[in-house]
Amino acid sequence: MNHKRSQILTALLLAGGFWATAHAGDAKEIAASVCAACHGEDGNSVAPTFPKLAGQNAVYLQKQLKDFLSGKRKNEAMEPFLGSFSDGDTSALGVHFAREKTAPGTVEDATLVEAGRKLFQDGNTDSGIPACAGCHQVDGMGNDRYPRLAGQHQTYTLAQMQNFKSGARNNDKGKIMRSVAERLTEAEMKAVSEYLAGMEVK
Ligand code: HEC
Ligand code: HEC
Repeated sequence: MNHKRSQILTALLLAGGFWATAHAGDAKEIAASVCAACHGEDGNSVAPTFPKLAGQNAVYLQKQLKDFLSGKRKNEAMEPFLGSFSDGDTSALGVHFAREKTAPGTVEDATLVEAGRKLFQDGNTDSGIPACAGCHQVDGMGNDRYPRLAGQHQTYTLAQMQNFKSGARNNDKGKIMRSVAERLTEAEMKAVSEYLAGMEVK
């Protein structure tokens, strides 16, 4: 067994012992010891491929965790870290991260923001794309049914839209996001991701 592999196994074994004793009240501790490595100590990840969880809606967060656990949503980076969370754990983790404050995002290509704003607020009547704001709210904050998008890393947002479009992500009930994403062009996805990254966080 090579060194890296044995390190990973050790980490998983330690994590397994931790989860065996973890219960709902430990969300803060789980977040600090397990999730922080990728999602940041305060739920604001630094690496743009890891989503910010801080300020995301609790109901949405719990749904995603349960979807990862059941295999409805797949990601190799996330799966090994979920242990055997109960409904109580996923709910407590959702509430914990929802309470944290979202750190503002950074616009990388300001020339795309206006096109992104237009698509988000008005949709594209030519290709039949509804306004994203209709579900994700005018301020991008979402609600219990729709995730918050404001301030998210553009790299992560873009990847999710590409995944909905290709069907690699298919845990949206009633194909609600897949039917939006299938009509989006790559340029539209990039533009709206930039707009969302620069949206004011509340
Ligand atoms: C090794 C890195 C890593 C660790 C540790 C990790 N995650 Fe993740 N997490 C990811 C990645 C990467 C994604 C994005 C997956 C994708 O692209 O679909 C993600 C996605 C998520 C999402 C979906 C967010 C959204 O906006 O849809 C939630 C919720 C989440 N993680 C919660 C957690 C929790 C809670 C923990 C700790 C128990 C944790 N993660 C530990 C890497 C990690
Ligand atoms: C009819 C309602 C609806 C519309 C319109 C809509 N969305 Fe969504 N969107 C959803 C739902 C519901 C989810 C959560 C799916 C799930 O449960 O995993 C979602 C998830 C997402 C996600 C993943 C968030 C994350 O943290 O992983 C992104 C990104 C997204 N939408 C972007 C957009 C954009 C951009 C538009 C406009 C072009 C749009 N959505 C239009 C309902 C909608």
